[in-house]
Amino acid sequence: MPRWPKPAEGSWTEHYPELGTGTVSFHDSVSAEFYELEREAIFKRAWLNVGRIEDLPRKGSYFTKEIHIANASVVVVRGMDDEVRAFHNICRHRGNKLVWNEFPREESQGFCRQFNCKYHGWRYDLEGNCTFVQQEDEFFDLDKADYGLAPVHCEVWNGFVFVNLDREPRQTLREFLGPMITALDEYPFDKMSERYDFEADNNSNWKVFADAFQEYYHVPALHPQQTPIAVRKPGMGVECAHFQIDGPHRMTTTGGARRWNLPPEYQYPVEIATRSGLLGPWDGPTIEPLPAGLNPGGVEPWGISNFQVFPNLEILIYGNWYLVYRYWPTSPSTHHFEAYLAFPPARNVRERVEHECAAVMFKEFALQDAGMLGGTQAALETQVVDGFPLNDQEILVRHFHKAVADWVSA
Ligand code: FES
Ligand SMILES: [Fe+2]
Repeated sequence: MPRWPKPAEGSWTEHYPELGTGTVSFHDSVSAEFYELEREAIFKRAWLNVGRIEDLPRKGSYFTKEIHIANASVVVVRGMDDEVRAFHNICRHRGNKLVWNEFPREESQGFCRQFNCKYHGWRYDLEGNCTFVQQEDEFFDLDKADYGLAPVHCEVWNGFVFVNLDREPRQTLREFLGPMITALDEYPFDKMSERYDFEADNNSNWKVFADAFQEYYHVPALHPQQTPIAVRKPGMGVECAHFQIDGPHRMTTTGGARRWNLPPEYQYPVEIATRSGLLGPWDGPTIEPLPAGLNPGGVEPWGISNFQVFPNLEILIYGNWYLVYRYWPTSPSTHHFEAYLAFPPARNVRERVEHECAAVMFKEFALQDAGMLGGTQAALETQVVDGFPLNDQEILVRHFHKAVADWVSA
C-alpha cells in the first residue's frame, strides 16, 4: 500500500523512515562502475517513456529512439491496425540499421507503408514481419516467417508511449506506474497538442540534472527573478506544500502563489505585455474538472504538481498546460536532455504569442539550471567530499538516489 502522509507536525522526511536523515553520497553520479550497473539494472529493465501518441498521428507514422545507455536503437510505429509497436532497429539479414535518414546515429521520424533496408533491400511490414527478400531462392531453406524484426515491449499510458528492453518485464506498465501516477488517468494530455521541443547535451550525470528539478530549495538563490524578496516568507525561501512517494516514483506540489499576482516591478516587461511567462499563460482556457490525482495533498490554492516517474521522466502539470523532461544518460558525466511544453492549440494570435513567451521564458530558466550543473558535476568528480546534507525540502533528491540504489542492488 502506498502511504500518502500529510504531516501535521514533524518533517516530510521522517514520515518515510527508510530514507533516513543522514548525509547522502553522490558517488553514484561520478562512478563509471555504477554507470555500468545502472545500464543493466535500470535502463534495460524499467519502462522508459520514449514519446507521445501525438508523435504517431496516423497509421504508418513512426519515430526512432536512440537509447545510448542501453546500447539500443528502437523504432516505434503505429501499424495499419492502429496498434503502437516497437522493434529493435536492426535488419535481420546482416544487421544494418533499418530506419534512419542521413546519419545512422541520429533519430528520425516520418511516415511509411513498410520498412525497407537500404543495404540489400529486405522489407518489413509495420507489424514487423519480413515481407520481401531479394533473390530469396539463393538462400538456404530461408523462411521469411523466421526473420521478423526483434520486438521490444511497448505499452501506452494516457498517450505516453513506453518501451521496456527487458526480455520479460516483471511488471506491466500500469503496475510499474503504480497508483500515484495512474491517478492521472483522466488528465487530458491529448488535448495539449501544441508543443515546443528543446534538447541539449548537458555536462552532468543524468541524476544531477534530475535533482535540480525535484526540489525548489535552489530557486531563491539560482533564479532570484522567480522569487522576489517581497513574496518569500521571511527566512523561508520557497517551501513546497506537499511531497509524496510511491514506490520508485515521487511528486511534489507547490502552493499557488501565481506569478501574475506579483507586483508589476517583479514582472518582466514582456510578461506584462503578453500576459504570459515562466508559469505559462495568465488567462488561457481552463480545464475542468482536473483529476483529483493532480493534487493528492489537497493543497489550496494549488500551484504546480511535479511528478517524477522513475527512472528518467518528469511531468510538471500547471493545470491547463504541462511540461515534460527526460534525461538520457550518455556517459557517467554527461546526458542528453529533452524537454517540451505542451498547450491546448492556440485559438488566436494572442494565445500563440502567450505560448511562445512561456517557451522562451522556460528556456531562460532551464539554462540557468543547465549552466550551473556542469559546475556541480566537475566538483563532485574531485570526490573530495562524499557525504552531503539534504534538508526536508530536498526529500525527493534523497528518495531518487535511494530508488536508484535499490534497483541496482536488486
Ligand atoms: S542488411 Fe538489411 S538487407 Fe542486408
Ligand atoms: Fe531551477
